[in-house]
Amino acid sequence: MAHMGNDKVKVTPTPMGWRLLFEPWSSAIQDMEAWIAGERLHLGAEAEVIAGTWHGRPAIQKTRRPRTWRHPDLDRTLTRRRMTNEVKLMIWLHAKGASIPPIWDVDFEEGCIIMARVEGRQLIDVLQEDGSSDGLLHGVGIAIRSLHRNGVTHGDLSTNNILITPSGESRLIDLGLANMEYELEGYGIDLHVLHEILGASHPDVKDAMKMVLDGYLSLDEKLGPAPKAPGGEVPSAKDILKRLEEIKTRVRYHGG
Ligand SMILES: Nc1ncnc2c1ncn2[C@@H]1O[C@H](COP(=O)(O)OP(=O)(O)OP(=O)(O)O)[C@@H](O)[C@H]1O
Ligand SMILES: [Mg+2]
Repeated sequence: MAHMGNDKVKVTPTPMGWRLLFEPWSSAIQDMEAWIAGERLHLGAEAEVIAGTWHGRPAIQKTRRPRTWRHPDLDRTLTRRRMTNEVKLMIWLHAKGASIPPIWDVDFEEGCIIMARVEGRQLIDVLQEDGSSDGLLHGVGIAIRSLHRNGVTHGDLSTNNILITPSGESRLIDLGLANMEYELEGYGIDLHVLHEILGASHPDVKDAMKMVLDGYLSLDEKLGPAPKAPGGEVPSAKDILKRLEEIKTRVRYHGG
């Protein structure tokens, strides 16, 4: 990958021969062996995801696909803005211990992110193939609250964007629409999106959303109120659940 900060690379003669020196803030990605590409996992409208290894560890490379109908300059600007948002929030969340994979490298020019590969399956497949096993959806609720407690809404909480590891743990991915948020509404909408999808795609999984919400509430019961986020107070799980009920009523009577 050709990376940001390449202009910072210096070549210095040493007794050992020519050696590359990098400024501390530029990534050592000139080491072409760092990323070794494997099979393609996904090709969607927005992104291509390739499996591989990063310094020998299982990783994925997610590359934003150009929107050909947009002017290339505008497309580059929007891609960069969206990626910056995704990367900043993922770094923040991972540092706080939220259930998301760590980011290992970023290339804004190429529009790609390298992050740890989550071994596992999408929740949509797990529910369709195995149904809901003990504690699965409770764990999904805990993972969502681990994001929300740190002041971040996901923005696209579908069952495609929740991965389940072989040991049954949940990891949230695809944070391109995530936001730092302090109003109840954004959190309520996150949960409402999942509520609608679980109802529509998995009506056979009984009490699915109830199990998610039990898990969601349990994290505040265990850890106490959410810590202060950089820009304000994060709403409590209880208040968010009340807002979810209001959103459900609103949608039922007014369609939105
Ligand atoms: N860290 C990861 N570990 C394992 N698989 C991943 C990871 N990130 C993404 N994937 C796989 O790639 C798929 C697409 O990734 P993601 O959801 O981030 O892209 P997307 O923005 O939804 O793409 P599109 O909108 O083009 O469909 C995921 O559903 C998942 O199967
Ligand atoms: Mg996705």
